[in-house]
Amino acid sequence: MRQKPNKSLENGADFVRYDAILFDLDGTLTESEPGILNSVQYSLEQMSVRGFERRQLRAFIGPPLYEAFREIVGLDDQEAKRAIAIFRERFERVGWAENSVYTGIPRLLRSLKAAGAYVAVATSKPAKFAGRILEHFGLMGCIDRVCAVSLSENHAEKAELIRRALPGRFERAVMVGDRKFDMQGGRENGIEVIGALYGYGSREELLPYAPEGMAESVDELQNLLLGDEKPARGVFISLEGTDGCGKSTQIPLLQQWLERCGEVVCLTREPGGCPISERIREIILDVNHREMTDVCEAYLYAAARAQHVRQRILPALQRGEIVLCDRYLDSSLAYQGAGRGLGMEKVEEINRVATEGLLPDLTLFYDLDPERAMERRRAASPLDRLEMAEDGFMRRTYEGFKALMDREGKTRFVRLDADQGIEALQTATQAAVRSRMNQK
Ligand code: TYD
Repeated sequence: MRQKPNKSLENGADFVRYDAILFDLDGTLTESEPGILNSVQYSLEQMSVRGFERRQLRAFIGPPLYEAFREIVGLDDQEAKRAIAIFRERFERVGWAENSVYTGIPRLLRSLKAAGAYVAVATSKPAKFAGRILEHFGLMGCIDRVCAVSLSENHAEKAELIRRALPGRFERAVMVGDRKFDMQGGRENGIEVIGALYGYGSREELLPYAPEGMAESVDELQNLLLGDEKPARGVFISLEGTDGCGKSTQIPLLQQWLERCGEVVCLTREPGGCPISERIREIILDVNHREMTDVCEAYLYAAARAQHVRQRILPALQRGEIVLCDRYLDSSLAYQGAGRGLGMEKVEEINRVATEGLLPDLTLFYDLDPERAMERRRAASPLDRLEMAEDGFMRRTYEGFKALMDREGKTRFVRLDADQGIEALQTATQAAVRSRMNQK
């Protein structure tokens, strides 16, 4: 369903439909059903209330808890307050993290920010949970204001939260939500409303408020809010380290995590990532190619990269995706520049055309002593040609990475101590990515 163009802005070159967009949280940005329903069920069990199926409890998602306990379960004022206290106890412990972000939401938020819009969240959740969830999933970087229920108030009307979330001045504002409370609250503030039908409400529930738009999916919502405007550029993350540092174990875990954050992930590697580059990879790593010169090797990595950047990385970034790349330019600088001794400037020169100037937004360096790393590597599978190089090679490569980190500073590189267990290293990996995503 397409939105009529905005009269006041339709002649502008920078066509922004709305300059202020307010989002509900549960059922609009996040798929919060598991954490909420598990906690409601827990609360009812503790209060010995029986006879409610999980399906019926779905109505809890969206409205203020107090109203839900009163109207859906039929508790009185005192009981409802006790039920909320029990709910919150569990929710605070585990429930808040039992959820995920709808696919495409981070890209939509990045695109709205890139288009210059004001973006806020108006939610009936207590402020500390709302903030924690948005932070946890790395969405804070795109959100100007979060209006949630403060500690001093047990519940607040949605209309009041929306009023607080609106900026001081705006031309055209919209409230996006999945429940009637969002529609009603938007209307009471005299702004437009869009129904998120992929959430927990239904068309019948929202129709009485005559929303300006209804979105069956996040893609449709993006269309309603941004029209044909291109999505904001995605985020390019590379992972680096010497052979055996453990990054290959971390990458699929990070991909899963990012998908829970609602990102569309393009997982790729160098050398390789597309058919031509994968064939170049075979040539480079072939243990029979002993006579390959260092310069030839450097050019082959660069050639593979040129194809990969053009065919895979740039298009994915243009689609607004997250590119997770197992090694990139820094590997050439460290392995060929420092390890082989060609010098970083020379390798940079060779790669200037190949990369088209593209650098990662974030580079995770898995720091593990190269001797220890090679021990791990040897235990895993037969070595390739680079891994069979003389003893000093990995040490020089490692020092090369360290020099790069010093040179590039913390704006791009994050060092991760790779001398720890898989789970702890994944936690550190996610924390590094999350902190970057949450930056304004
Ligand atoms: P990688 O895929 O990490 O190897 P593996 O399949 O064993 O995990 O990388 C292949 C090898 O290529 C690795 O030893 C690092 C090396 N390399 C370079 O020397 N220069 C480069 O530019 C790149 C991308 C990799």
